[in-house]
Formats: sequence, C-alpha cells, structure tokens
Amino acid sequence: MAFPATRLRRLRRTGALRSLVRETRLTPESFVYPLFVCPGEGVRKEVRSMPGVFNLSVDEAVREAQKAHSLGVPAVILFGLPEKKDEVATGAWEENGVVQRAARAIKAEVPEMLLIGDVCLCEYMSHGHCGIVERVGMGAPARPLGAAVANPPAAGTDYEILNDATLELLARTSVSLARAGIDIIAPSDMMDGRVAAIRKALDEAGFQNTPILSYAAKFASAFYGPFREAADSAPQFGDRRSYQMDGANLREAIREIALDIEEGADMIMIKPAMPYLDVISAARERFDLPIAAYQVSGEYAMIEAAARNNWIDRDRVMMESLTSIRRAGASIILTYYARDAARLLA
Ligand code: PBG
Repeated sequence: MAFPATRLRRLRRTGALRSLVRETRLTPESFVYPLFVCPGEGVRKEVRSMPGVFNLSVDEAVREAQKAHSLGVPAVILFGLPEKKDEVATGAWEENGVVQRAARAIKAEVPEMLLIGDVCLCEYMSHGHCGIVERVGMGAPARPLGAAVANPPAAGTDYEILNDATLELLARTSVSLARAGIDIIAPSDMMDGRVAAIRKALDEAGFQNTPILSYAAKFASAFYGPFREAADSAPQFGDRRSYQMDGANLREAIREIALDIEEGADMIMIKPAMPYLDVISAARERFDLPIAAYQVSGEYAMIEAAARNNWIDRDRVMMESLTSIRRAGASIILTYYARDAARLLA
C-alpha cells in the first residue's frame, strides 16, 4: 500500500474538484446592503473613512437599492442622518423622518426589496448616545426625564443612559418604521427589554406579522469608528460601554441572545463579525433561529485601506472574509460589500 494512504490533496487538484467538495458557499441571497440616507436631492457624498460608501439622499438611495436588487441582493438596511438632532430623537420616529421617506420611496420603485429598519437613537440624539441621557451625581438639578442635558455634562456631574424611559422611544420608532413600509425591525440600541417592548408595540399597532431581527450580541467595538463618521453618530461625551457588550465575554453573549429570543426576537445578530466568529459559531450550535452577522464599517475600512496600498488582493480578501462569516454559522450577512461581492458571484 502506498504511504500515506490518506491523501487529502486528491480533492484539491482542480477547480472542478474543489468546487464539488466545497462545504460553504456564498450567495447574494444572504446579503444585506446598508444604506445611509440623508436630506436633500441628488446628494451622493462619499464617507471619508469608507471609500465606496456614500451618504445618499432619498432619490439616490432608491437608485442604489435598484442596482443592488438587479445584482440579486434581496435586502437593504437603512440608517438615517436627520435634518435636526435633539434630546428625544424626534428624527427617528417622526412620520416624515428621512428613513421613513426612503422606505416609502424604495417600496414604490423596488417593491420586491426587503427593507430592514435599524432602530437606534444615536443618529438622532444631539449627544450621540443610543438612549435618553440623565445627569446624575453631585449637584445635578432635578428635571423631567428626557429634558435637556448639559452637552457635555458640566464638570462634577455624571450621566446615565436611562434604560426604561428609552424603551418607549424605541417602540415608537419601530411602529413608525413599520407604518412607512419597513419589513423587518432591527433594534441595535442594546437597552434591556427592548425586544419585548417593541414586539408589544408592533402587535398593538396591528403589525403582528412584522419580524424582529435583534442585534442581540452587539459588542462595544472600536470597529464602529467609520460608521460613526458615516452616520454622524459619535457620542459627544463618554462611550457606549455601559450598554454595549464587553468584547471579552462569550457566555454573556449567549445570555443576551437567549433573553432576546425569550422576548420574541425572530432572528438574532452578532456584531462585529470577524473579531467575533467564535460567538457566531457558539450561537449557531445553541440556537435554532436564523443568525445574522454584521461585517461592520471598521472591518470594511481595514480591507479597503490595505487594498489601496496594494498590500492585499481586495477581492480575494473580501470573499475570504465573507466566507469565514458564513462558515462560522451566519446565514445572513450585513456587509458594505453586498453589491461588489454579488457582482463577483454572478
Ligand atoms: C447604531 C449602530 C451602529 C452600527 C450599526 N448600528 C453604531 C454604534 O453602535 O455605534 C455600526 C455599524 C458599522 O460599524 O458598520 N447604534
């Protein structure tokens, strides 16, 4: 008998053999394409730290959705840059908010496109936090919930993100998005109890059939930097570590996911993707509902930066990174590469 008897290389010899035995396949049907919608008309402003990603006015967002759809991308997720920001995130829930307008316009032109609404308040809050901010601590004056907060808080005061008061605004935002034609509600704020609060509000408003894709395990990540430029949503003081997850915690991620499922999530998301592939994999083993992963802005920006220096082969790194996310167990991938990857797969 020839030695060694087992030759794994037999199945690697040709492209046809490799394709025949391939375990993981990427398809455009699993991609979700993020769009940043801003006021105005004919606006297409490139994000400095995300080459190839733009702030788009409603009309341009419609064109982008059309192009994505023609490449086989079935869904977009919408983020808004409102006209004005305030301390109760009016732009997130008003009937004519920028995302609500974009949703109606895209539905009218590309009715088959699935619309996912990111539900968070940071883009719409003057202070850039995902919830209502309350001053606490030394000498903080008493004031009603949600009233103006010093920006940044004066020295000697501390602040807190009010979990329960924020739930009402998240629920209101979700209902407003559903009314505008959003098909899937995706809360990304990381307040406790928001999936239950949103489910209840959607049901009461007659949207029993609108699914919730919860950003269940969302880590307090430095990889969101470029997004905060794109969405103009960086916190003006402090950071998000009191509500987003500590990147060191896998067991806690499992608890977050389990709780969101108990509260009524139909699908769950892990975010970022590549630095948290172990979390995706653990969630895949444990839970039976659809799992999404978000290849976030910093993951995209790193690849683009290296590619621009000719340090890596952009297309191959793009496909390898997406394959790794798929292999780890995500069936849905949110990625700024949705269009480019779909084009390569065609
Ligand atoms: C809103 C939100 C963020 C992202 C998605 N939804 C930013 C954040 O939490 O600061 C990040 C997406 C990305 O980096 O591509 N809270």
